[in-house]
Amino acid sequence: MSDSEEMLKKAAAQLLAIENFLGGAFLPAKANPLPAPAARQVAQTPRPQAAPTGPAMSRDEKSAALEALSQQIAACRKCSLAADRANPVPGEGNPDAQLVFVGEAPGADEDRTGHPFVGRAGDLLTKMIAAMGLTRQDVYICNMVKCRPPENRTPTPQEIQACWGHLAAQLQIIRPRVIVTLGNPATQNLLQTTVGITRLRGQWQTLGDAIPALAGTPVMPTFHPAYVLRNYSEDTRRKVWSDLQAVMDLLGLPRPVAG
Ligand code: URA
Repeated sequence: MSDSEEMLKKAAAQLLAIENFLGGAFLPAKANPLPAPAARQVAQTPRPQAAPTGPAMSRDEKSAALEALSQQIAACRKCSLAADRANPVPGEGNPDAQLVFVGEAPGADEDRTGHPFVGRAGDLLTKMIAAMGLTRQDVYICNMVKCRPPENRTPTPQEIQACWGHLAAQLQIIRPRVIVTLGNPATQNLLQTTVGITRLRGQWQTLGDAIPALAGTPVMPTFHPAYVLRNYSEDTRRKVWSDLQAVMDLLGLPRPVAG
């Protein structure tokens, strides 16, 4: 197959993935401002200082550092969630990813398998990533909290605090160009704000001093896939797709053109 045939095939597959996510014909969402001034951020819980980052690492070094971190997470007993977990769920994907998705906490499927976002919400996240023309192996997927809270309740501030060092270390190893926060806990804790996801989604933010070595990293808050599943309207999906397109634009990822 020639290069142009290959490109056409990829674009067609991406258009199908977009339709698959939106559940209808492809319509480009209205453009997102790039980057908009950060919404007023209100300081929330104090954080421990993240470890200073060393020099940028090679992909192999990042992979080894993430593997070592996964072992630390497996040995972690900083909060009570460790006692009840079947498996820790550190995160997975490309150690050198330009784009990291941060969710809330593992659910039952993730706890059973040790992999992030593998249940129904995970299937939807996979569709969202495919609509961007990417695969789960291109990006990195992780959560604020690495062990499942009982009954899938929202992690407490203490649990988020206990797990914060793991997330901060992950992000400092990967050094993504963009972070997408999925839902309120990830958005509010990474941005250290009390402003809710409904107001923040679709508006570019930047990491503040939550992880000083990564201050300034662009953050795009969007709805959590579990919320999208609970509110499965075209409007909700279009909003998420609009947020993802803003990320694609920032990363220079092509948008396939319909027709
Ligand atoms: N919801 C999350 O926030 N993370 C997962 O890994 C799965 C569901």
